[in-house]
Amino acid sequence: MKKISFIGLGPVGLCMAVCFAAKGYQVTAFEKDASKANQIKSGEPYFYEPHLEEFLQKTQNKNLRIVTNNEEAVLQSDITFITVGTPAKRNGTINLRYLTEASKEIGKSLKKKKEAHLIVVKSTVTPGTTQNIVKPLVEKNTGRKCGKDFFLCFNPEFLREGNAIKDVLEPDYIVIGGYNQKSAGMLKELYNEFHKEHLPSIIQTNIPTAELMKYANNTFLATKISLINTMANICEKIPGADVTKVAEAIGKDHRINPHFLNAGLGWGGSCFRKDLQALITFSKERGYRPMLLEATCRANDLQIKFTIEKIKEKLKKIDGKRIAVLGLAFKPNTDDIRESQSIKLVEQLQKEGAKVTAYDPMAIPNTRKTLDKGINYALSAIECLKNSDCAILATEWEEFKKLKPEDFVQNMKTPILIDCRRLYNQEKLSKQLCYIAIGLGELAEPQL
Ligand code: UDX
Repeated sequence: MKKISFIGLGPVGLCMAVCFAAKGYQVTAFEKDASKANQIKSGEPYFYEPHLEEFLQKTQNKNLRIVTNNEEAVLQSDITFITVGTPAKRNGTINLRYLTEASKEIGKSLKKKKEAHLIVVKSTVTPGTTQNIVKPLVEKNTGRKCGKDFFLCFNPEFLREGNAIKDVLEPDYIVIGGYNQKSAGMLKELYNEFHKEHLPSIIQTNIPTAELMKYANNTFLATKISLINTMANICEKIPGADVTKVAEAIGKDHRINPHFLNAGLGWGGSCFRKDLQALITFSKERGYRPMLLEATCRANDLQIKFTIEKIKEKLKKIDGKRIAVLGLAFKPNTDDIRESQSIKLVEQLQKEGAKVTAYDPMAIPNTRKTLDKGINYALSAIECLKNSDCAILATEWEEFKKLKPEDFVQNMKTPILIDCRRLYNQEKLSKQLCYIAIGLGELAEPQL
């Protein structure tokens, strides 16, 4: 079995490292940030991901070693995955600082190695980056030739937070952008060995096409969500129309499929916005304005505005009102609040003078670190509802499903609930409280 190394232990790098180690590979994983590396070494990941801790404790100090120097990782392996972050700059372009640094260091380390080595870029990078940045930096620092003395691929990941381990073990498909046939062949061989009889389809192409595939995947998903949110906003103008039924129907069309058709407060997370902005900027710099992608972003931003309008419709004004916000994470089963629409809603409510009480099963510690003061954090959903003028279901955590109509009626000052994630059943709730939902056209009077 080939020996594997990972450079950068964020969600992608660490989840892949533990999965390869769990399959028996010898894995050396490098993290530059000593505090993160130490926390991982202690057996406790510095972020929540289902099953990650269990996998880490199963593999740590057996065939997974966490190191804090690049050279040890590269020289102890045959294949190096670059899994560093490529965050967005203020102007929307991609920040390649970590990738550039990693490429230089890998080059310096490789200088000390004779045997063939495969470098696999997994970080999301705009088309052209692997060949115009990574390749020359490694060649310059090793003094060797790409495609001959070392090999290079781009291999995007499609991991969803909260499902990352599963998405590593059972990807829908694998993309291999090979610098040359030999490079692609080496990576193909690894994935054949890793997945065995469960090998998914492998799409082999050139590197720039592979780099674009990642953006195409994410921008398509974000656009699909903005499309169903557009349908939701139209439904709200039609008494009795219900976007969840529209989604159920069109999802039956095999060309559409039922996934990513949940209308709501909009999409968040560290990837969609970053990747959309990066691709929009990348395209405009090259003379093409991707209006559809710009509209995808704009439609998403407007979901916050429309929710504020719903609250104003019911409360007449927001200033001085007590608003209960259920859910802060960008989606359920994660403590991650990056680009969370729930957080953006809280910030807008505060701007309009609301007194916000918020509860989230996991994301309160991260929220405390980022949002300025002024939010009252509750220890439970029920406590969050107490004496509030209006409640917003912002993130669809499973535990919020257990709330019954009486929980709202008995604890709230005025039982008004805005269901931003269609978690609840209108029939059950609207008899006992004022229930407003995204994508539900209000009926003048309930129809039989
Ligand atoms: C996404 C991509 O799915 C993944 O392939 C890529 O590698 C990283 O970015 P992630 O950001 O973890 O993964 O979350 P995802 O499950 O895609 O949800 C993104 C956002 O869309 C969340 O805020 C979620 O609430 C929202 N969403 C998702 C909807 O609003 N409606 C849906 O139907 C699905």
